[in-house]
Amino acid sequence: MASQTNSNQPRSRLIIHDLARRNGHADFARDIHRGLTSNPKHLFPKYLYDELGSRLFEAICQVDEYYLTRAEDEILTTHAGEIVSSVPSCETLIELGSGSAEKTRKIIEALIRQRGELLFVPVDISASALEESSHSLLDSYPNLRIDAYAADYFQALAALPKRDAPALVLFLGSNIGNFERDQATDFLRGIRGVLHRGDALLLGADLKKDRAVLEAAYNDSLGVTRSFIINELERINRELNANFDLWAFGLRSVYNESLGRVEVYLESLRDQSVTIRGLNLTISLQVGERIHVENAYKFDPEDLRKLGAQTGFSLERTWLDQQGKFSSNLFRVD
Ligand SMILES: C[S@@+](CC[C@H](N)C(=O)[O-])C[C@H]1O[C@@H](n2cnc3c(N)ncnc32)[C@H](O)[C@@H]1O
Repeated sequence: MASQTNSNQPRSRLIIHDLARRNGHADFARDIHRGLTSNPKHLFPKYLYDELGSRLFEAICQVDEYYLTRAEDEILTTHAGEIVSSVPSCETLIELGSGSAEKTRKIIEALIRQRGELLFVPVDISASALEESSHSLLDSYPNLRIDAYAADYFQALAALPKRDAPALVLFLGSNIGNFERDQATDFLRGIRGVLHRGDALLLGADLKKDRAVLEAAYNDSLGVTRSFIINELERINRELNANFDLWAFGLRSVYNESLGRVEVYLESLRDQSVTIRGLNLTISLQVGERIHVENAYKFDPEDLRKLGAQTGFSLERTWLDQQGKFSSNLFRVD
């Protein structure tokens, strides 16, 4: 069901489809139960992004060690014109996991220069981030319309209306790295399913590099990443009436070089038990026991070419930042 927001924006310029709210609480409860009763225990990265989590992620983007956002922003600032010229009559920009959409501004501005006006279709599981970023973008760009989906990626891809006009899809921030390999191919096939010949996908992918740089990016010295990750326990406390003691967990971020991924865990600092009243569940954790929260896969150019070839795309062009840390990859629909 589409809901118009009650903002000062002219109603016709913004529609927010709030799909995430439909089964949101039940899905959260089911997934948390499943994760905390598994052996080893795990949580799901998509539940990191409630309102506070989205704000904490924005703070991560400011810390010295988290180079990813600055590197990708540098690429988009330098190459936005070339990127959008790859879809010359692009009328629709779709972004999956758009968050604050700050970097997206470079692409939006280049597309508006190219066509005069634009329909932006952001998708994000965080309704608060989506609403805030939509208002801010509409304030900045009078020739922009927004049709936003507060939804899980797959839910939104299934709900997008049919379209004839050419489109560019963005999947930035190396979000692709949060998927396991088989999920990443399913996801790109899902994107391919809503595109036509000539459309393109710009995929931001972080590159394999030195262990110390990677581990610091996911465990910064200010402790912002720890706050972001531990907020998922606080969210369980709030929404499922649990009693996690947030001081009783440390953050461990480890680069598993053979699998090419940073693994992010919360580690129990003592033997403890936690009651989650909303799930009618008590769990025990031993000192040193880890709860897996997310993986962040890192890529090399060959990984990306193969990923495209398996999913109906050709890798047409790759741009790197000056230090060669991050890649923006333009995939064309075959
Ligand atoms: C790492 S942040 C990146 C944000 C932004 N694209 C950037 O590059 O800075 C991931 C974003 O994807 C959203 N997200 C995570 N999992 C999602 C899912 N399964 N479905 C939809 N959005 C999701 C989060 O809410 C968050 O805004």
